[in-house]
Amino acid sequence: MLCRIISSRTTSCSAYKCATFATKASKPEIPKNPLASVYSANNQTTNGTVYDRKPFKLTLQAGKTYSWCLCGKSKSQPLCDGTHKDIYLKISQKPIRFTVEETKEYWLCNCKQTKNRPFCDGTHKQKQIQESTTVRV
Ligand code: FES
Repeated sequence: MLCRIISSRTTSCSAYKCATFATKASKPEIPKNPLASVYSANNQTTNGTVYDRKPFKLTLQAGKTYSWCLCGKSKSQPLCDGTHKDIYLKISQKPIRFTVEETKEYWLCNCKQTKNRPFCDGTHKQKQIQESTTVRV
């Protein structure tokens, strides 16, 4: 066989025509929130304001419950500091309670537009988010 190995994938080939495929490194798996079905706040249909145009890396402890800021107004981003309770701000979004199954670093969404709350799913790369104004200065 005359196959060249470029990545973990090779194909069988005829004697002089090698068919090789360069593959991208597999994308890391986006974690899920085990508490998503427990708290009704996860069913909120609106998102908060864009706090930042990129995610925030944070080391999280397995089994501990966190509250991720959805409104985008917390001063302790990406986590909730209770700002949404200020009646004068008239914020309708509630924080998302979540936990993780493994202690390690996670990328938490800081644009507040992810479809996989609270973890970054790459939504921040969209043009309208990259061009939006942010709360963070
Ligand atoms: S920071 Fe929100 S999806 Fe990545």
